Amino acid sequence: MTTLDIKSMKGREAITVLTCYDYSTARILEEMGIDIILVGDSLGNVVLGYESTKDVTVNDIVRHTGAVRRGAVSSFVVSDMPYSSDSSKELAVRNANLLVDGGADAVKVEGKPEICKYLVQSGMAVMGHIGHLPQTAEKPSIHKDFEKLLKEAEMLQAAGCFAIVMEMVDRDVARKITDFLDIPTIGIGAGPYCDGQVLVINDILGMYEDFKPKFVKQYAHVNDEIRKAVKAYKKDVRSGSFPGL
Ligand code: KIV
Repeated sequence: MTTLDIKSMKGREAITVLTCYDYSTARILEEMGIDIILVGDSLGNVVLGYESTKDVTVNDIVRHTGAVRRGAVSSFVVSDMPYSSDSSKELAVRNANLLVDGGADAVKVEGKPEICKYLVQSGMAVMGHIGHLPQTAEKPSIHKDFEKLLKEAEMLQAAGCFAIVMEMVDRDVARKITDFLDIPTIGIGAGPYCDGQVLVINDILGMYEDFKPKFVKQYAHVNDEIRKAVKAYKKDVRSGSFPGL
């Protein structure tokens, strides 16, 4: 998978994207043929237990990108530029290089078309992100301003981004933007008309219970399975039936 392959999927086949933060899960995503694996800064909430994605560091993302790359050797891996890692052009290039050295094929930047342009000019593959921007937004809300969003999306396309995540964008607005752009849109809480969809893996597996966004579809109840297994193990150890004699 290359950025050209991803771009060529627009209008042909829906692009599948899932977040991932560890080696074992990355192996499964690669085996199942997920098109893009995103080492998102949602890492901070669902894995590291931070209060905010603002607490995620470049080192956190580098470490987890390495784990994902070791599990998914040939998948297309995108890593998030964490909060304030891209506050100047020079800093952004330095940090993006660390993510690429850590195993990423591309980086994702929230907003910031000028930074995206500079990263692309420096040779990086960059994924844009518009709509709800968790690193800087006060609280989640649906974005409906078509003119504003289209302008932002067009700036990111002109900057050379190969795809754009649209988070919590009104479905009809998302559809119009998708139709306007030449590059693929990847929706999260943005309705069915984007060129692809992304969700946080812990959400779809039922592994994150602190908060469940309305747009998430839960495909499994892994935490319930973990509870059952831990309960059975505890019972066996207490009763002496494990390990056997
Ligand atoms: O950090 C993240 O997981 C994201 C999403 C688009 C899901 O940015």
